Order: sequence, then structure tokens, then C-alpha cells
Amino acid sequence: MGRFDGRIAVITGAARGIGFGTATRFAEEGASVAIVDLDESAAGDAAARLPLADGVRAIGVGANVSDEASVDAAFERIVAEFGGVHVLVNNAGITRDNLLFKMTGEDWDLVMGVHLKGAFLMTRAAQKHFVEQKYGKVVNISSTSALGNRGQANYSAAKMGVQGLTRTLGIELGPFGINVNAVAPGFIATEMTDATAARLKMDVEEFRALNAEHNPVRRVGEPADIAAAVTFLASDEASYITGQTLYVDGGVSLGV
Ligand code: NAI
Repeated sequence: MGRFDGRIAVITGAARGIGFGTATRFAEEGASVAIVDLDESAAGDAAARLPLADGVRAIGVGANVSDEASVDAAFERIVAEFGGVHVLVNNAGITRDNLLFKMTGEDWDLVMGVHLKGAFLMTRAAQKHFVEQKYGKVVNISSTSALGNRGQANYSAAKMGVQGLTRTLGIELGPFGINVNAVAPGFIATEMTDATAARLKMDVEEFRALNAEHNPVRRVGEPADIAAAVTFLASDEASYITGQTLYVDGGVSLGV
């Protein structure tokens, strides 16, 4: 018996990184999974790599979470394929880091569009089904950068915005049997943090080691660390938890 037997989970940005790690954990625990990502073939390839339980399926859906028509079409397709949806993980993300004086309006809009508008659009599409069935779990991915991070005014604002969205939707949707929570990861070894290393002209391993050194638990995180928290919050064990943001960061947000 898996915690997600008979459940259908939609995970955005799951063609790789934290999203793929999370999709893997849902699949291992019995869920059918829809991987939503920009490129349909990358999403399909990722879906084909999931460890599926007997009788369940995974599909890859190409969609841009910051585009209303694209999100609504993706949701329709997922519901038509699976006959419903129970869990939504808003994980898709990008960075466009720069100090304020160099940050363009386009960099601001792009980051806000994917993280904040994306979570809004996806959750609005999901709630129609969740409210009808009086059951739904939303887990949004925030970040320790929400607390403030040099060079990430756009990303930090979007990620703190995600926490506000989470609290508000917790209030609005709670009466309909829907839990809305967030996970705020610290440094997780993925292509996103590897790209940051490249931008800082640092070796990937050196960059990870540096981040591990400044972390109370003295290591960087892996996608599986985030998947464990997301699946807990999406499970029925967490049905009395809503509107919360759980920092999964090895203690780095403690500021020691
Ligand atoms: P990643 O860059 O490895 O993966 C992000 C995925 O999102 C990619 O597959 C990408 O194609 C997809 N994506 C981007 N824009 C999209 C759009 N408009 N529509 C649909 N899909 C889109 O990143 P990673 O590290 O796996 O990050 C996942 C989430 O975790 C992001 O929200 C990120 O901000 C957050 N996060 C990551 C941390 C880290 O240290 N890696 C730390 C804190 C938060």
C-alpha cells in the first residue's frame, strides 16, 4: 500500500531537478503522475523514466505555466487522460539574477510570471476539480531566498509572494477539503544551482562544498530531501496542516 495509491499528481517543472525527484517519489508511492514542463518531449521522456506501480500511468505535458491558455489546455488534457486530479505541486521555476540597477523589466516579469503567476494559474485551474470532489492538495515551492538574497530581488519577491499566496489559499480553500502548503528549499544540487556556479565562474563541486560549509548540517540538499517534505504535505497525514511554509534547508534559514 502506497500513500498515493489511486491518486493523480500533477507536478510542474518536473522534467528534471527537484520536480523530477518529487515526481519519482509520488510514483514510488503509488500515484499516477502528470509531468508538466515547457518542452513536451522532455516531459514525456521524464515520465517514461518514472518507477510506476502496477496499473498506474505517467504522462508528459508541454505547457508554459505563466500562460493562461497553455495552463487551462494542459489541465483539460490531464483531466481527460486520467479522469481527475488530486495533488498539484507548483515547482516550475527560473532565475534571472542581477543587482537591482542591472535588472531589466523583462527579468522581473519573467521570474514573477513563472513562479507567482504560474502558481496562481495552475492552482486556479486545479481548484475547479478539487472543490467539486471536496479533496485536493497543493504544495508550492518557495525558497530560502524569500527571506532576502543579494542579486535576486525578482526571485525573492516572487518566492515570498508564493508564501502569501499559500497562506491566503489555505484560508479560502480549507472549507472545501483542500490543503495548501509550501516548501522552501535551501541549496539543492540541481541544474539550476549548477548554472549559478557557472555564472559565478566557479567549479560546480567547489560551489556545492562552499554552500555545505555554511550550512548547519554541513551538506547541500538533494531533490529527494524536498520530495520527502512535499509528499508528506500532500499526504493525508498532513490534513490538519494548511497555509504553512516548511523550510527544508539544513538549517541555513536559522541565520547562524
Ligand atoms: P531546474 O532549473 O533544474 O528545473 C526547473 C524546471 O522548471 C525545468 O525543467 C524547466 O524547464 C521548468 N520550467 C521553467 N519555466 C517553466 C514554465 N514557464 N513552464 C513550465 N515549466 C517551466 O530547477 P530546480 O532546482 O529543480 O528548481 C525547482 C524549483 O525549486 C524552482 O521553483 C526553484 O525556484 C525552487 N528552488 C530551487 C532551489 C535549488 O537550490 N535548486 C532552492 C530553492 C528553491
